[in-house]
Amino acid sequence: MSFRDLSVYQIYPKSFRDSTGSGVGDLRGVIEKVDYIASLGVGMVWFNPFFVSPQVDNGYDVADYYAIDPAMGTMDDFTELVAALKQRGIGVMLDMVLNHTSTQHVWFQRALAGDPAYQDFYYLRAGRDERLPNNWTSKFGGPAWSPFGDTGLYYLHLFAPEQADLNWHNPAVRREMAAVVDFWRRLGVTGFRFDVINLIGKPFDLPSAPAGVDDRAMYTDGDLVVPFLKELQAASYGLDADAVTVGEMSSTTLERCIEYSRADGGPLSMVFNFHHLKVDYAGGQKWTKAPFDFAALKGLLMGWAEGMAAGNGWNALFWNNHDQPRAVDRFGDAAGHREASATMLATVIHLLRGTPYVYMGEEIGMTDPAYTSIDDYVDVEARNAYDALLAAGHDAADAFAIVHAKARDNARTPMQWTPGPNAGFTTGTPWLAPTNQDTINVAAEEHGGVILPYYRRLIALRKELPVIAEGDVQAYAHDHDRVLGYTRSLGENRLLVLANFYGEDATLDLPPEFASARVLIGNHPDPRISEGRITLRPYEAQSLLLTDGSKEI
Ligand code: NOJ
Repeated sequence: MSFRDLSVYQIYPKSFRDSTGSGVGDLRGVIEKVDYIASLGVGMVWFNPFFVSPQVDNGYDVADYYAIDPAMGTMDDFTELVAALKQRGIGVMLDMVLNHTSTQHVWFQRALAGDPAYQDFYYLRAGRDERLPNNWTSKFGGPAWSPFGDTGLYYLHLFAPEQADLNWHNPAVRREMAAVVDFWRRLGVTGFRFDVINLIGKPFDLPSAPAGVDDRAMYTDGDLVVPFLKELQAASYGLDADAVTVGEMSSTTLERCIEYSRADGGPLSMVFNFHHLKVDYAGGQKWTKAPFDFAALKGLLMGWAEGMAAGNGWNALFWNNHDQPRAVDRFGDAAGHREASATMLATVIHLLRGTPYVYMGEEIGMTDPAYTSIDDYVDVEARNAYDALLAAGHDAADAFAIVHAKARDNARTPMQWTPGPNAGFTTGTPWLAPTNQDTINVAAEEHGGVILPYYRRLIALRKELPVIAEGDVQAYAHDHDRVLGYTRSLGENRLLVLANFYGEDATLDLPPEFASARVLIGNHPDPRISEGRITLRPYEAQSLLLTDGSKEI
C-alpha cells in the first residue's frame, strides 16, 4: 500500500462505541460502525492498544501482547473486524508498545520472583549511596526509578511506575518484540504504530544528565534506535512489503526523523513529531496555560514539511490524537467559529506533504468537554499534574484551569454519535462522560452539517490529485501574522493553500500566476479575490489550483 495518498483514521477503542452497555468501548462496537468509517474514505484505521492491561495508562501498560482485553472483546471479534474493514478496502494499524511492559506482565513477575533471564529484560540498577541510580524523571512526574521488590535494586520506568522499561540491549527482548509484531502481521494487520519508539536506544550505562542538561537528551534518539528498528523490520513487518509503519517520536529532531523515515532505506514509513503542538507551552512546560505562538507554529509546521521533503523523509500529519486536547479549542475559536476553525485546521493538514491522521470525533468538530471538577478526570497524568500544581503553590481554580486546558482526557471522551444521554456511545454509564453531544454529533453532521462532508472531500482529494500526495512543498507568505500559507508543486501542477488562524479578516497578495487559478476547496463558498489579492474571513481557508490542463481534474 502506498502511504503517500493514504489518510488514516485513529480510533480510541475504549471511547468509540460500546456494544455491551459496560460503559467501555469494544471491538464489536467498532464492527457496528465500519460503514461509517468506510464513508470517510480512509485507507487505514489505527487502533490504540486493546491488549490485556491493568489500564493504569489506558492500555499503554500491556500485560499480554498476544491477547485482547476481555473488556474490549475476543480474538474472534478481532478477526471479524479485520475482515469487515478489509472488505471495505481498509487496513488495520495496531499500536505496538515496545518500550515498556506493564509490571503485571509475566516477564516482570518472573523477574521479581528472581529469574535472572527475565531480570535482564528490564533495567535493574543499584542506587548510588543513598541516591537513585540516576537523575532521570518520569514523564508522568516523579523519579524514573522505583524499588524492585525487596532486592535493594531499582527498575527504570520513563512513564508510570507500573510501566517498566524493557532492556533492548538484550537480544532476547528484541526477539520477543519481533515475535509480537509478527504474530499480529500474520493475523492480517498491515499497519503498525510504534509507541515512543525513539526511546528504545538508551545507552546501557544510563548516565545521569549533567547539570543544566535536560534528562531527555540522555535517552532520546540514541544511536541504537535505527539498528534496533532495522532488526525488527527484517524479522517482522518488513516481511510484508506493503506494511505501513509510523513511529511516535518523543522530543525528536528533524535530522533523526529523516533517518527513521527516508525513502531510501529508513526503517519506518513515517514519523510523528510533536513540536508543533508545544507552541502553547509557557516556558516549554506542558502544565501551563498560554495562548499559542502562531509564528512558532508556522515555523515548525513548515520547517518540518520542507525539511522532510529535502531529506526524502515522510511526516505523519495531525492536529489531534488521544494525548492532545482538541485542536479546535487550542488553535481555533471553539465557541464563536467552531465549524470554520475545524475546517480551516483540516485544510492545512490534509493538503500538506505527508500522511494525514484524523482522530475520531475530529471529523465532526468535537471539542474539549465542559468538566467542572478534577474528579471528572481519569487520566493518571492529569491527576498527578493537578496535585503537582497544588504542591507548587497554584490555587485550586488555577490548577483546575490548567488541567482543563491540557488534560489528555479532553480527547478521550466518547465519540458523539447522537444527541441525548451518553451520545449514542453506551447504554450504560460511560467511563468518561461526554458533555456537548446535543450540539455536536455525527447524526447532525450527516444531515446538513459542514465539517464531516468537508473532511470526506479532503480525504478524497488526496487520492485524486497527485500534487497533494506527491508534490513538493514550500512555505508561502511566511511572515504574515495571521495566515499560514504554502504551495505544493508537481510538474506543471501547483496548489496554493492559505489559512487564516484568527478571528479578523486577513489580506495578502497572491502569487501572480495564481490570480486566475480556480478554487480547489475552501471552507467558504465565495472567496474574496480582487486585483491579485485575497481577503480571508475569520478562520477561512482556501486552496487554489493551477494545472497544465490535461493531467489534473
Ligand atoms: C505515548 C502514548 O501515546 C501515550 O498515550 C502513552 O501514555 C505513552 N506513550 C506511554 O506509553
